Amino acid sequence: MTTASDSATAAASGANATERFKSDKLVGVENTPPERVSTLAREVLEAVHETIRKHKVTYDEYNALKAWLISVGEDGEWPLFLDVWVEHVVEEVATEHREGNKGTIEGPYYVPDAPEQGSSGSVPMRENESGTPLTWTGKVTSTNGSALAGAKVELWHADADGFYSQFAPNIPEWNLRASFTTDADGNFEIRTVRPAPYQIPTDGACGKLISAAGWHAWRPAHLHVKVSAPGHELLTAQLYFPGDEHNDDDIASAVKPELMLAPKPAAGGEAIEYGFVLDPA
Ligand code: DHB
Ligand code: FE
Repeated sequence: MTTASDSATAAASGANATERFKSDKLVGVENTPPERVSTLAREVLEAVHETIRKHKVTYDEYNALKAWLISVGEDGEWPLFLDVWVEHVVEEVATEHREGNKGTIEGPYYVPDAPEQGSSGSVPMRENESGTPLTWTGKVTSTNGSALAGAKVELWHADADGFYSQFAPNIPEWNLRASFTTDADGNFEIRTVRPAPYQIPTDGACGKLISAAGWHAWRPAHLHVKVSAPGHELLTAQLYFPGDEHNDDDIASAVKPELMLAPKPAAGGEAIEYGFVLDPA
């Protein structure tokens, strides 16, 4: 039998993430003043120069770096590399003014326009989808406490083997991806299954770095969300499960205490309650 895990490769997930990024995410920044471009480029290069001097980097190491950078592109792993090791700081800077919900990184696997399920429903899943069933209730409010009716809660997450639909092979297109709209009181109810911890692909360039450095490749299990409402800032977040062995050493540095769920046993699975507070735009 062929399963997603037999044939999921870095080349496949990476190439898909690269294509997805190029089609959805690129917004021109050509109006950035040359002074800013110069400052940012110069300071990044100076940090590299400083590291070379401090550690007396050799020509062999320099050439290994060149070869590795080339392979990151060839494997389509720039989205993975940047989202794991850089995005968390961009997110921190972008949201430091907020009073509402904490957010965290988006990662490489969001796809817009997932199937709409109304205010209460199930995420599309396979017959016999593995994983503990979760019933998640919550309310979306503004920072002034008022309920936000018609807010959008987009959810996407890995399956119980740690794979994402549309990026790993042999998974139905919209599996474990859906969009919900809050009711007149700002409430939603979502039925899904608990995702597994996620290992970033280890068979490509990022995996080579991880093994050469003696790191691990794991992210704790997480639910991704984007929450939006007219007149409010878009919230991108992930929610985590207590007790996961990688909550304290997430390779993507994206766990925050405010994003921890508190699942309770419930008939046929677990119940979670978690709502969102959005900042006015
Ligand atoms: C990566 C994957 C994720 O699921 C995530 O949430 C963040 C980063 C990655 O492979 O880069
Ligand atoms: Fe993820």
